[in-house]
Amino acid sequence: MNEIVITGSTGVIGRRAVRELVAAGHRVTGVTRSARGRERLEDLGAGAVEADVFDEASLRRAFDGADAVVNLLTHIPRADRMADPSAWAENDRVRTEASAAIARAAQAAGVRRLVQESIAFVYADGGDAWLDEDAPVAGGGVTTTALTAERNARELFDGDTVVLRFGLFMGPDSGSTQGALEAARGGASIAIGPPGAYRPTLWLDDAATAIAAALAVPAGTYNVTDADPPTNAEIDAALAAAVGVDALRLRTPVEGPLARSQRVSSRRLREASGWAPRLRAGTETWERIAA
Ligand SMILES: NC(=O)c1ccc[n+]([C@@H]2O[C@H](COP(=O)([O-])OP(=O)(O)OC[C@H]3O[C@@H](n4cnc5c(N)ncnc54)[C@H](OP(=O)(O)O)[C@@H]3O)[C@@H](O)[C@H]2O)c1
Repeated sequence: MNEIVITGSTGVIGRRAVRELVAAGHRVTGVTRSARGRERLEDLGAGAVEADVFDEASLRRAFDGADAVVNLLTHIPRADRMADPSAWAENDRVRTEASAAIARAAQAAGVRRLVQESIAFVYADGGDAWLDEDAPVAGGGVTTTALTAERNARELFDGDTVVLRFGLFMGPDSGSTQGALEAARGGASIAIGPPGAYRPTLWLDDAATAIAAALAVPAGTYNVTDADPPTNAEIDAALAAAVGVDALRLRTPVEGPLARSQRVSSRRLREASGWAPRLRAGTETWERIAA
């Protein structure tokens, strides 16, 4: 059993991680800033501690006695605001400033392991080639600060850092999943890249089991995605079938990290830990979520 403190513990991935780690027998404490967050954590069998995620001293107290800190803080805007760059300011702040405060506080508290959330969209376009963790990253757009958070976790913390580059979260409470379903019911695709581009996707429950696995793997960077990432065309075909339309209308192509083809391999994590996704999120989950 380990003492684990989680920042971002009340979000879509945080709640699942808490449940998974409690079930695995760890003592889990979630950092929260609200009474509602405290209630949610206690309902999941975890403890709660109030702290300011931008304040190192406050975090240092919250991390006291922890073996591992898991940072799952993000602040992603709703789908209807994503095109507005100013809507990403809080997310950028969380990824740049809070990740630095967390790494420094974990270091000062003598924590042995820091697990930092990142995103698989950081890679340069790889076409049909598989992309492992050593493939070139390009960042750009909203992914740039994910690379900053990775760097903070590696450079400001001397213990074992594990960076998890998650695919696009899919699940009933994922905003992008619900946005895609809504668009598909109106006959439209939300795929940003071309139909043949690969998209790293991930079932949210499988993200939680990967976090549990991250507590025992060698320090390093790991992709956490479907074992066989689908193309946009495959995703759209499964989505169309789930909502009962023949085919989805493609959108006008746009530039940016989400338009790149990223056939991201999660083999390193699977081999290091035995973790494996239970579903191919990009194609096997639409029907059950739509229902
Ligand atoms: N890989 C991916 O595809 C990916 C990754 C992340 C998010 N998303 C998507 O983005 C949408 C929103 O997710 P989200 O993770 O941003 O929100 P969320 O699910 O509400 O969780 C964010 C977590 O970070 C905390 N937090 C955020 N800003 C904070 C701040 N300034 N100070 C302290 N705590 C803060 C929240 O605490 P409070 O409860 O106190 O607000 C919460 O615990 C979801 O649809 C999710 O699927 C996707």
